Amino acid sequence: AQTAEKYRPSFHFAPEKNWTNDPNGLVYLDGEYHIFYQYNPLGDTWGHMSWGHAVSKDLTHWEHLPLALPEFPNPDGKSETMIFSGSAVVDAGNKSGLCPSGTKDCLVAIYTGHIHAKGEELLQQQNLAFSADKGRTWQQYSGNPVLTLNTPTFRDPNVSWYEPEKKWVMAVAKPDKHQIYFYESPDLKKWNKTGEFGPQGDITKIWECPALFKAPVTNEKGKEKWVLLVSSGHRTPGYVGMQYFVGEFDGKTFRADKDNPNPGSPAFGNVLDWGKDFYAAIEFNHRPKSRPKPLILGWALNWEYAGKVPTSPFRGSMTLAREVSLKRTPGGLVLVQEPVLTGVRQETVEKLASVSLKDETKALPKATGDRLDISFTVDPAGGEAGLVLDKNGEQETILRVKSGSVELDRRHSGNVSFHKAFPSADAAPVGKGPVSVRVVRDASLLEIYLNGGEAVLTEHIFPEKPGEPVSLFGKGGKAVFKNVVVKQLR
Ligand code: FRU
Repeated sequence: AQTAEKYRPSFHFAPEKNWTNDPNGLVYLDGEYHIFYQYNPLGDTWGHMSWGHAVSKDLTHWEHLPLALPEFPNPDGKSETMIFSGSAVVDAGNKSGLCPSGTKDCLVAIYTGHIHAKGEELLQQQNLAFSADKGRTWQQYSGNPVLTLNTPTFRDPNVSWYEPEKKWVMAVAKPDKHQIYFYESPDLKKWNKTGEFGPQGDITKIWECPALFKAPVTNEKGKEKWVLLVSSGHRTPGYVGMQYFVGEFDGKTFRADKDNPNPGSPAFGNVLDWGKDFYAAIEFNHRPKSRPKPLILGWALNWEYAGKVPTSPFRGSMTLAREVSLKRTPGGLVLVQEPVLTGVRQETVEKLASVSLKDETKALPKATGDRLDISFTVDPAGGEAGLVLDKNGEQETILRVKSGSVELDRRHSGNVSFHKAFPSADAAPVGKGPVSVRVVRDASLLEIYLNGGEAVLTEHIFPEKPGEPVSLFGKGGKAVFKNVVVKQLR
């Protein structure tokens, strides 16, 4: 088991076995964070989509629970309904009347029922299921669907409570039109269309999995803005998984601000994560007061090669939960992401106040193992500087900081041959001058937070021998590293 599971993360969520894609129904209730997830109970590739379920008190230790919503056969005896992506809300006081009377908090899932027969995609419509026992057992609502356009492409409802008008609002994707539709409801059962957003930003791929929430602007006191996340990299070479829009939501529709920043290519809008392994992130509903910033969590893979990654007996995992805020910069409002590592034990094994490297490499002998939190600031000084991970003969993974960009080069990182799109060097743009880098590593998954989370790059590597000592390098100019800290994580 040790070797077969060498890529199993320890403080990220992954199913015990079989396939997962998107996180679904992220919600907090009575001391527990719930993750539901697109799950194939019968195999390690996509199929039989159902909602798996796990809970956590701290967002890093996850307890597996029984399957929440299995796919089901339809009364026509010919077709079936798969449980596609969606959200979950806490209906405080059971105002919808969905749960038995007297239920204090009714947990309601709003998901896409994907109706198919003999491999043919017939219909996508929005359904409800509810739980009176904190998600342990579920029932389908007899009045399903609650929203249909009689089309096979209409999915991923993202529902939240809109306090100013005391109503539920839904953002839901019209994938082929590059649009997000908005609806409102007094009771989760009747939905009324209120607006549309898009096409805008990156429209080279279909749109899926919207997430709409309010986030604080941390350097403007008391200011908040609305954020709309859209996933748009489905099965498309060239990736760019997720984009975000910053703007206003008036309870009816979302409008993006004119000064949305466009890091990198304007054609791609605002990129949420520059790595290849980040998709379908949504936010946690109903989060506790102790967490003032929205929390998002995404699927740490992409559709191009997800079905081929060499992990077993599970395939697919999630990113850490990330706290999200906005920061006013000369280029506009930038989304900032910070990883949540609550509950993870940390031990500092290397600490260097300052290191200068000119055409040399410096090993950090105690920075071993494949569960690490590595941070430093570096000025590449006209050359290149960075990190080498898992150096083992010809195998290595290189993080290169150059002027204006940070690149993860996994072309020789180990097992890269399972799909032609996997071996790649992918870059995130950063400003000129010193860059702060933080790499959180959990087995095969690297989450790289740059300049305090203003740019993020998330990718997997599958080295044959993970956990060799990390080294620093400088090439070209005289690279100056400051505040190098390496922690081992447990
Ligand atoms: C996104 C997605 C969703 C859909 C789900 C199906 O990754 O394509 O649009 O609901 O996966 O598993």
